[in-house]
Amino acid sequence: VTNEALNVMISGAPASGKGTQCELIANKYGLVHIAAGDLLRAEIATGSQNGKLAKQYMEKGQLVPDEIVVMMVRDRLLKPDSKENGWLLDGYPRSLSQATALKGFGFEPHTFLLLEVDEDVLVERVVGRRLDPVTGKIYHLKYFPPETEEIAARLTQRFDDTEEKVKLRLSTHHQNVESVLSLYKDITVKINGNVSKEEVFAQIDSVLTSLAEQRKAASGSV
Ligand code: AP5
Repeated sequence: VTNEALNVMISGAPASGKGTQCELIANKYGLVHIAAGDLLRAEIATGSQNGKLAKQYMEKGQLVPDEIVVMMVRDRLLKPDSKENGWLLDGYPRSLSQATALKGFGFEPHTFLLLEVDEDVLVERVVGRRLDPVTGKIYHLKYFPPETEEIAARLTQRFDDTEEKVKLRLSTHHQNVESVLSLYKDITVKINGNVSKEEVFAQIDSVLTSLAEQRKAASGSV
């Protein structure tokens, strides 16, 4: 029997809304959200040697070396929940070598979602972003302000969320995006990410709903 679980990749410039949309997608479709950036920040928090090294690259807005990132993502994909429920890979692959490595391990996405957002919008989103360390929720001072004073008081900002650093992160993104896209062009769906969170999700939702139906029909016929 074909496994009906969906395997989804989501890509886009820094602050294009990947994390925000992944929260909505994971809620509705039950996919396991695997974010390369979150895995790296968790590694930094442990104080390990790999974490220290990763942070040096992240502070410069550069890609962390494959030796660290590839195995981290692979190990998470190999956990049983990813296989059973399907996965939603966010911020990986970011280079051709990362994409090739993943293919080599036998992980293939059914769809590749690309969030397209204008550059001036990206900068505003980065500078206003805040995170709740307790719930992990993503806020924005202007667009999604915290619900209570208590939450407002504990919000934190990412160390790479300054205007200067986002420029570096953007240039890294531009250097790599085409080569990754070339590998997934047959399954790439471009999503207009400039609109509201709900409108962005409506586009993604319709792509995933029809994909899920197709997979269900295909698995029923064997
Ligand atoms: P990572 O953590 O992945 O950061 P990123 O790609 O720069 O993406 P972000 O997390 O900044 O943004 P997002 O797209 O999730 O947007 P969000 O939903 O938060 O990577 C960080 C670093 O780690 C990299 O620079 C690199 O060094 C390293 N790294 C990561 N992956 C790697 C890999 N594979 N290989 C090597 N190195 C790697 O939204 C942003 C803000 O906008 C929020 O405040 C949100 O509330 C708001 N917002 C979202 N949607 C909307 C909307 N529709 N309207 C208005 N506001 C919105």
